[in-house]
Amino acid sequence: MAIEFCGMQLEHPIVNGSGTYDALAARRVFGDAFDRNFPFSAYVSKTITLDPRAGNPPPRLWELGQGMINSIGLPNKGLVRFVDEDLPEYATLPAPLIVSVMGFSVDELVVILETLDRRDEIAALELNFSCPNVKTGNIVGSDPVECEAMMSQLRAHSDKPMIAKLAPSTSRPDLVAMAAESAGADAISLINTLPGMAFAPGSSEPWLGAGSGGISGPAVKPVALGQVARVSTSVKIPVVGMGGVENSRDAQALLDAGARLVAVGTENFRDPAAGSRISASLREPVTGAAAPIQKGSVRQPWRVIGGQATVNSRKPQP
Ligand SMILES: Cc1cc2nc3c(=O)[nH]c(=O)nc-3n(C[C@H](O)[C@H](O)[C@H](O)COP(=O)(O)O)c2cc1C
Repeated sequence: MAIEFCGMQLEHPIVNGSGTYDALAARRVFGDAFDRNFPFSAYVSKTITLDPRAGNPPPRLWELGQGMINSIGLPNKGLVRFVDEDLPEYATLPAPLIVSVMGFSVDELVVILETLDRRDEIAALELNFSCPNVKTGNIVGSDPVECEAMMSQLRAHSDKPMIAKLAPSTSRPDLVAMAAESAGADAISLINTLPGMAFAPGSSEPWLGAGSGGISGPAVKPVALGQVARVSTSVKIPVVGMGGVENSRDAQALLDAGARLVAVGTENFRDPAAGSRISASLREPVTGAAAPIQKGSVRQPWRVIGGQATVNSRKPQP
């Protein structure tokens, strides 16, 4: 199942969500076996910024029954140390490299793009227009006017394919995606995390050091599916769909909704081999209990009468 994406020929459609898989650390732990069983067809780096960032104060994670809330806040070494220290090692991974970047102004992003444009190790750039954990994060990725203005100013500064990563906190992601496309984006990726909050156990104080964070994992799956479906039918450029993918059925749903690639994020924390597991089972025909459920083949536990849902009786029908 070879897939064309932004000039790359990828073996399968499963990549990682930025910031959810440290491939360099994984290689140090698993050694050569990691390269032989590399979980993704392309690797997306953690978002980098022009200046080094310490990230948000701890605690930075809160586990939900259905995923997590994080307030990591883009800690990274900054552009210069990324290029000098990490890029040479990233370049030896057995998959094309997509570097995720974020700027607090157009000028900052221009410096980042022009620096990375000269590096042959990089196959494409993902523009993180959607981090909820930094002050300017969500605006560009959720507002068509801001997105078009930003994208059109950046386009001239790199010949590399540019993927615009959008925010889910808009009711019209299609308009934002169309704005990015018309200003020169080569692909769209979505969704980033949804803004949210958690209180510390037994208290009414926020648990996360930053006060609030971004929700990811299975909890956001229906939001991702809805937004990916809407965006995929609105733009001609390819879409990378992500949000709550745990297994090949979730990945297939995003592909069926129109995504060209699917990114695995939060699931990597639970199962570092999730990418390999999902890409392998995408190739297998789905049978038995895991086979798709046909509409009308199961009895719903509830039915809608006159606009109100009622629970179906378990008593035998006369
Ligand atoms: C701990 C954590 C860190 C993340 N860091 C980044 C990041 O640096 N850049 C980015 O664009 N998205 C980041 N994301 C968002 C993911 O790439 C992805 O868009 C989101 O989590 C939805 O996918 P998921 O539900 O499969 O995790 C991060 C998500 C998590 C959970």
